[in-house]
Amino acid sequence: MIKDFRDYNLLPHNTFGISARCRRFLEFQSVDEAREVATMLGDADRPLLIVGCGSNLLLTGDYQGTVLHSGIKGIVQESGVRSQETGGGSQETGDRSQEVILTCGSGETWDDVVAYCVEHGYYGAENLSLIPGEVGASAVQNIGAYGAEVADIIHEVVGIEMGTGLVRRFKPSECGYAYRQSKFKNEWKNKYLIVQVSYRLKLDGELNLEYGNIRAELERKGIQSPSLSQLREVIIDIRNAKLPDPKVEGNAGSFFMNPVVSVEKYRELATLYPGMPHYDVDAEHVKIPAGWMIDQCGWKGKTLGRAGVHSRQALVLVNKGGATGLEIVRLCDAIRQDVLSRFGIEIHPEVNIV
Ligand code: EPU
Repeated sequence: MIKDFRDYNLLPHNTFGISARCRRFLEFQSVDEAREVATMLGDADRPLLIVGCGSNLLLTGDYQGTVLHSGIKGIVQESGVRSQETGGGSQETGDRSQEVILTCGSGETWDDVVAYCVEHGYYGAENLSLIPGEVGASAVQNIGAYGAEVADIIHEVVGIEMGTGLVRRFKPSECGYAYRQSKFKNEWKNKYLIVQVSYRLKLDGELNLEYGNIRAELERKGIQSPSLSQLREVIIDIRNAKLPDPKVEGNAGSFFMNPVVSVEKYRELATLYPGMPHYDVDAEHVKIPAGWMIDQCGWKGKTLGRAGVHSRQALVLVNKGGATGLEIVRLCDAIRQDVLSRFGIEIHPEVNIV
């Protein structure tokens, strides 16, 4: 049955732990219910806000519209194993990789999908372990961590068109995926209710251990060639050590995106800050970690009212207890201003501020 509540408190639907109400809240439990929701909304119900578990959301006040949430669960494996050409797709290489497709309900918890993959020996999702959020949001936000992005393993996204209730199927190449970006959060915003996402996993994949301190952490544990589950454990340990638990201190993970700057700008800064961490994007662009810049500005562990900067990862803003959304925004603005003055770089929130 569709859940349909009026004047509803969104506290359980945002990991920042902000108490804010919405005029109407609707949750669909199946594709048919999503079609019904997509066709029943009138002008009086707008504006619309589609949420997952609110792990990337900052509410700045009550929402004068309708909040939509998918309660569609399930992780279903397509029967059979597919063979996929690799190595440039040439028949002559004879290089075939074995794949499975998992179709997941958009309201399924993302990390349960990763756990399922690792338990079954399916490669591709492991570096995205413990990212908070749900399957639908994974496809909207193009979640990423430790050198992997979900767009790399998405096979298909199924959405219900708002207004018509038509079922639309998208290949990842149609979704405009880029670093934490997709058409679903830009030109297709509020156009589709995502009901399912299929992921393509490998049976004979390789582990990606190159990013950050994965190797150092494996060494510390005395692991030389990790299994899928050992890699998942290491990533969970690294995340737990750096990122605050939203149940203890409200937060939405990385608050800002890492800015991409020109090579010239990077060189200029690198002479001033020789040890500055950075990632090459392409021949002309370099990504600079926003967390490092915020840390350099002295914000790590600091507070402004009831909003704070996490003491172990400056990219994460936290609710020190009872903060309003506007207090968090005030801290966000102060940080952006400092980073701009010191580095001449504008940083932008990754979190959806409503
Ligand atoms: N750094 C500092 N001080 C800090 C934070 C970071 O000096 O307070 C330095 C680190 O030492 C490192 C560099 O900045 O040299 C990058 O830090 P880190 O490896 O922790 O990653 P990040 O760039 O800050 C990104 C993602 C995270 C993801 C990690 C690991 C974004 C916006 N964030 O953070 O994603 O878990 O890489 O892959 O791209 C999220 O989106 O919610 C999230 C947590």
